Amino acid sequence: MKVCVYERYGSPEVLQLKEMEKPIPKGNEALIKIRATTVTSGDWRVRSLNVPAGFGLIMRLVFGVSKPKQPILGTELAGVIESVGKDVRRFKVGDQVFAFSDAAMGCHAEYKCMPEDGAMALKPLNLTYDEAAALSFGGTTALDFFKRGKLQSGESVLINGASGGVGTAAVQLAKHFGAEVTGVCSTANMELVKSLGASHVIDYAKEDFTRNGETYDVIVDTAGTAPFSRSKDSLKESGRLLMVLAGLPDMLWIPWVSMTSGKKIVAGPATGRADDLRYLAELAQAGKFRPVIDRRYSFEQITEAHRYVDTGRKKGNVVITLGHDD
Ligand SMILES: NC(=O)c1ccc[n+]([C@@H]2O[C@H](COP(=O)([O-])OP(=O)(O)OC[C@H]3O[C@@H](n4cnc5c(N)ncnc54)[C@H](OP(=O)(O)O)[C@@H]3O)[C@@H](O)[C@H]2O)c1
Repeated sequence: MKVCVYERYGSPEVLQLKEMEKPIPKGNEALIKIRATTVTSGDWRVRSLNVPAGFGLIMRLVFGVSKPKQPILGTELAGVIESVGKDVRRFKVGDQVFAFSDAAMGCHAEYKCMPEDGAMALKPLNLTYDEAAALSFGGTTALDFFKRGKLQSGESVLINGASGGVGTAAVQLAKHFGAEVTGVCSTANMELVKSLGASHVIDYAKEDFTRNGETYDVIVDTAGTAPFSRSKDSLKESGRLLMVLAGLPDMLWIPWVSMTSGKKIVAGPATGRADDLRYLAELAQAGKFRPVIDRRYSFEQITEAHRYVDTGRKKGNVVITLGHDD
């Protein structure tokens, strides 16, 4: 099978397409023929080791000190189950599925094995493989932060970086949970963010939301430009700052803020579980959540896709479609 590998950390030029043995599923695994995968901000971070302040050493310890332990990037996939191990009960050959491999990665390949109790679910029938591949990364991140931040119906939420992979999911999910949503993005993305359910949109080039006198129950920062020091006065008395993008120095504030005020900071890595994938699939099936796709690339163009993701300016998701030869 064809795979995209990187054998050292660096720019998109470290990526190479190679041939590798097709994996054989273990007893509890399904072998998925991948129809679509994505290149996310997570792939950019792990490939380049361009990470928030204080995380450089931790990332090397997790992903490989001098070179990557897992040479295949990619956290999301959608495809068809081609074969299953002898103990698999929940899925069968021919099922159309989507999956999230998170830090284990390995989705930039023509085939991948997933354990049946891993983060894998049936693909919603009304989504294409391209859309289903883009359900998990932004969707599970936004869900996890909203759960930890205890978002309630009727609350006001501001999403800074509303047009990215996490932001476009967060706008839709916050709206679905009954929040009044304000999105912050660049001029070019204002219509997109409004179309996803934001009641108000702020163009960050023209207005600084931390200085306009408005306050919110929840602020989600996916852009890294709204640390507590800047956004504290924009939070209500019991407001929560959900720092999707945070460096270690930002995290040092967490206990101090909880001890000295009614406000709270939530940070750290999000987790994506099978339950969350099934929930996102239900919402998608009901027409309440749809991943935004900015660009599609073929597998052969994956280096180009990384270059675009590296700009930090994508709108929603970047998808890689796999044609397969048959
Ligand atoms: N904690 C976790 O578990 C976790 C999980 C997933 C992602 N992340 C992190 O979260 C960040 C966002 O991820 P993503 O996948 O959404 O990235 P992305 O798709 O690349 O989106 C980044 C967005 O930031 C916006 N942006 C850039 N400058 C901005 C500014 N000054 N003010 C407001 N928005 C601005 C861009 O919109 P415009 O083009 O409109 O400027 C772009 O849409 C990444 O750094 C990623 O590493 C963390």
